[in-house]
Amino acid sequence: MYINTEIAKDIFYVGVNDRITDKFENMIPLPYGVSYNSYLIVDEKVALIDTVEVSFGDVLIDKIAAELKGRTIDYLIINHMEPDHTGSLTMIRKLYPDMVIVGNKKTLEMVYGYYGIKDNVLEIAEGETLSLGKRTLKFHMTPMVHWPETMMTLETSENILFSGDAFGCFGTLDGGVLDTDMNLDKYWDEMYRYYANIVGKYGSPIQKALQKLSNVDFRLICSTHGPVWKENIAKTVGIYDRLSRYEGMEGVVIAYGSMYGNTEGMAEAVAQGLVQNGIKNVIMHNVSKSDPSVILRDIFKYKGLVLGSPTYCNDLHPEMSSLLQKIELRAVKKRDYAFFGSFSWAGISNKKLGEFGEKMKWRTCDLKIEEKMSLTFDNYRACILLGNKLAELVKSECEEDPSCH
Ligand code: FEO
Repeated sequence: MYINTEIAKDIFYVGVNDRITDKFENMIPLPYGVSYNSYLIVDEKVALIDTVEVSFGDVLIDKIAAELKGRTIDYLIINHMEPDHTGSLTMIRKLYPDMVIVGNKKTLEMVYGYYGIKDNVLEIAEGETLSLGKRTLKFHMTPMVHWPETMMTLETSENILFSGDAFGCFGTLDGGVLDTDMNLDKYWDEMYRYYANIVGKYGSPIQKALQKLSNVDFRLICSTHGPVWKENIAKTVGIYDRLSRYEGMEGVVIAYGSMYGNTEGMAEAVAQGLVQNGIKNVIMHNVSKSDPSVILRDIFKYKGLVLGSPTYCNDLHPEMSSLLQKIELRAVKKRDYAFFGSFSWAGISNKKLGEFGEKMKWRTCDLKIEEKMSLTFDNYRACILLGNKLAELVKSECEEDPSCH
């Protein structure tokens, strides 16, 4: 038996909290858990917007039953097909066999592909509407935010946006649902981490979606993960806007691999040089220790990036190779970049890190520092100089863009 939170008149939050799963998508740690958000609109017709991950289907069913009091669900609106939001579809359909599944052409292809369902479906397209009685839903296609079928649903009388993954974040909802009712401290960094890891590759589609909805004055934004945004809509949209333009804040991430501390010594010297020239946000990550999702979060957050690696088996340190693959996968743009390498008998890491910056088309400091065995005094000073130069690059860009502070 549940008592659901009513986020607007006759619109109920019926989502669930997952404090069990270790890794989202079997890759990304969930230290604060994650919520799978689902919303029920009880009008002359009843619409369920998205479902939840299959393990929590029974909770969703009980939450829905608490509001329906014997009525049926008329429509299931699928904004996003990924199984964390459609996993309970077949369970719900068994209970409500007359429920019509509403989605766009690509959604319905996936409904068939994943669940073998092709009857009782309604195909909708950009700008089409569906009346529930007092409330009307309008559909906006937002492909690649973050799958090709993704769309957003706007409730038009109050401008309540059901946004799918967009504007979402990791972190369970601990008692509250609306941002007005909770301390939001844990969510902001989790929003950066969610963005960088889940939708980071899709900056351009997110920009298109933001432009499409730019003239709507939202009352609420209801994402599929994290709080319902009411007081913090401008902040949330601002974070997504900035991240999807790949605009970093003033600060530098130093990610380094180091087996015996010699490459780490270079990283320390670069950090000194950054601080000497006024960079206060210096974030250091040992790639063998920091979780990649956290490193990516900070790379998306800050404008400057330094990568350092020893040579290992005539290649980069394996954890550094893995990080480069993750950065490239997300096509991270517009970074101010510096790099350094070390080796004991045959150096290759410095060359590879330089080539990586070229491939990513980053603005790169032209100082190439390669250390043989242990750090010499000259190389120590060169690393400080590298930090000085990168700091100047980052600060010069931030002078032109005051919003990066
Ligand atoms: Fe939360 Fe792209 O699914």
